[in-house]
Amino acid sequence: MANSSHSMDNGAQKLAGKVVIITGGASGIGEETARLFANHGARMVVIADIQDELGNQVAASIGSDRCTYVRCDVREEEQVKEVVDSTVNGYGQLDVMFCNAGILSPSDQTILDLDFSQFDRLFAVNTRGMAACVKHAARSMVERRVRGSIVCTTSVAASHGTMLRTDYAMSKHAVKGLVRCASVQLGAHGIRVNCVSPSGLVTPLTRAAMKIEELQKVYAQSSRLKGVFLTAKHIADAVLFLASGDSEFVTGHDLVVDGSFAV
Ligand SMILES: NC(=O)c1ccc[n+]([C@@H]2O[C@H](COP(=O)([O-])OP(=O)(O)OC[C@H]3O[C@@H](n4cnc5c(N)ncnc54)[C@H](O)[C@@H]3O)[C@@H](O)[C@H]2O)c1
Repeated sequence: MANSSHSMDNGAQKLAGKVVIITGGASGIGEETARLFANHGARMVVIADIQDELGNQVAASIGSDRCTYVRCDVREEEQVKEVVDSTVNGYGQLDVMFCNAGILSPSDQTILDLDFSQFDRLFAVNTRGMAACVKHAARSMVERRVRGSIVCTTSVAASHGTMLRTDYAMSKHAVKGLVRCASVQLGAHGIRVNCVSPSGLVTPLTRAAMKIEELQKVYAQSSRLKGVFLTAKHIADAVLFLASGDSEFVTGHDLVVDGSFAV
């Protein structure tokens, strides 16, 4: 998608001069957010992901002067620390961390059939990886006295029981706990920590689990708001709000973007 796809509201540059890291920025919600952040004047958007080819392509299409790709597996704390350190060393500071990388288990993971090797693999990314990203972003902000913004991607599954994917729902509930604790602990430093909770939308993540037609049918039924499908742009807009000064007095908040989720 060309970066001209995002029209600007009144030409506002909501992230003018800001330095940003987006984990999982090579695809889906992260990619869309990288494009929107760059269009809102971010000085540098660092895409941290494990899909090298895609990540480099996305960064190149946004422009090498405003976006760069760095390989970072969020399961490895040292790699998370390195991407934060290299960002701060290269661009002066870190203003916004969007902790967004996430996965689904390959099977249904009902409680009766819970496979703990899949469970552990999922938690290593969705929960432990998020915590590592919040930790190292917050450390760099505290150290440099940056009144930054940290945003995590959770899900409606962070607030509801689900029929399938017990491990996923549990991992996202845990991220909400992480956001609550971090927001309370970092408030004294002027650092805000929030999360965004999408309901289902079509991205490579969900396309791997179901056919597009089935996904759209399920998602249409699960929203009380009719006549509109949730897209990555809706989520990127919500993340921009939480990342920018527009939400200056908002912290510890879960911004649900779900068209009134019908369980
Ligand atoms: N698509 C949905 O319906 C939906 C709904 C609610 C929440 N979410 C959440 O949104 C976030 C983004 O998902 P998406 O739908 O854009 O999916 P996606 O698969 O398009 O993007 C996820 C990105 O995370 C990256 N990633 C995976 N493991 C990683 C690791 N170990 N280290 C670094 N990067 C890694 C992937 O390479 C990919 O680029 C996830 O946290 C997901 O749980 C998605």
